[in-house]
Amino acid sequence: MSTVGFETGYETGPARPEEAQAVADAVTALLRELRGDASHTIPGLGAAVADAIAGRDGAGVLVARDGQGRVAGVLGYTTQTALRLAAPYRHVQELWVEPGLRSKGVAALLLAELDALCAADGVRRVEVCLPAEQFPSYPRTLAFYERSGFRVIGPRVIKDLS
Ligand SMILES: CC(C)(COP(=O)(O)OP(=O)(O)OC[C@H]1O[C@@H](n2cnc3c(N)ncnc32)[C@H](O)[C@@H]1OP(=O)(O)O)[C@@H](O)C(=O)NCCC(=O)NCCS
Repeated sequence: MSTVGFETGYETGPARPEEAQAVADAVTALLRELRGDASHTIPGLGAAVADAIAGRDGAGVLVARDGQGRVAGVLGYTTQTALRLAAPYRHVQELWVEPGLRSKGVAALLLAELDALCAADGVRRVEVCLPAEQFPSYPRTLAFYERSGFRVIGPRVIKDLS
């Protein structure tokens, strides 16, 4: 599946294997931005990106490309089944758009592409975790997701195990 956003001039579709480095760079940039740490690196990212692009275990990567075919935005997702739904749902794990290309509808196009993919696969729910409230762009990010049809269901708690 591949969609062209005529208003935005960007095209979206599944990431190709040759776009793995661009996807890894985008995920690294996302984490650096969220953590406010310009030197953050993710060990093992290359293999994880390759697995997701290959669609392993329900994971996947959508990209938005500009007119020259350059990757302008990336959406990483996973698919899992919850007992509470008795059905599969998708989780947007990463969503990032090149800073100079924001507010042009690129992320909205990626979410629309994911919606189409879910419809084709019979997946009827999409979830996403927001960045921490201390993140400077948190209010704009929340506004973006609400405008895209998401509703807030409560904070997330996590625990890292060593
Ligand atoms: C959130 C994000 C993916 C939106 O991408 P985008 O292509 O600019 O989104 P769209 O053009 O479809 O919609 C723009 C809206 O996104 C929201 N937004 C959130 N953060 C923003 C930012 N730093 N810059 C611009 N828009 C932002 C705003 O609501 C904006 O609407 P506005 O232009 O009327 O203020 C992008 O800003 C981004 O990569 N931010 C940093 C990472 C992040 O927060 N990712 C999501 C959580 S994992």
